[in-house]
Amino acid sequence: MSDFDASALVTAARHARENAVAPYSGFKVGAALLTTGGRMYGGCNVENASYGLTVCAERVALLKALSEGERAFAAIAVVADTESPTPPCGPCRQLLWEYCGDIPVVLANLTRVSGTHQMRDLLPLPFDGRLLT
Ligand code: THU
Repeated sequence: MSDFDASALVTAARHARENAVAPYSGFKVGAALLTTGGRMYGGCNVENASYGLTVCAERVALLKALSEGERAFAAIAVVADTESPTPPCGPCRQLLWEYCGDIPVVLANLTRVSGTHQMRDLLPLPFDGRLLT
């Protein structure tokens, strides 16, 4: 599905960001993951005093969707209050690739969209399940 409503997805990510639990970094991130069936799952970053147990917004959105039985995804939007785009971190790219494949990743801040990138460009030469067969 490439004809998704990027604007609606970014709006959902901005709303999800409002719930960010980021008392340590102060860096609030929101994500919204679109299924091929048209559902949107929001996620925000959830930090922890251990720091290392922090979960990114993208992974929260993905795990929420997977736990609701969703298995096919069309796009994800990521929003932070930064001038430059905030792309998914390495672990999020690995998980998004595994469960979502080559979806478009829309990067935006609170007022504008900075661009859209395909997952294959964000995670070139990936390690994935095909190598285990
Ligand atoms: N973070 C995300 O939620 N997503 C990203 O794409 C980048 C980083 C979060 C993790 C942490 O809570 C904060 O941003 C600062 O790294």
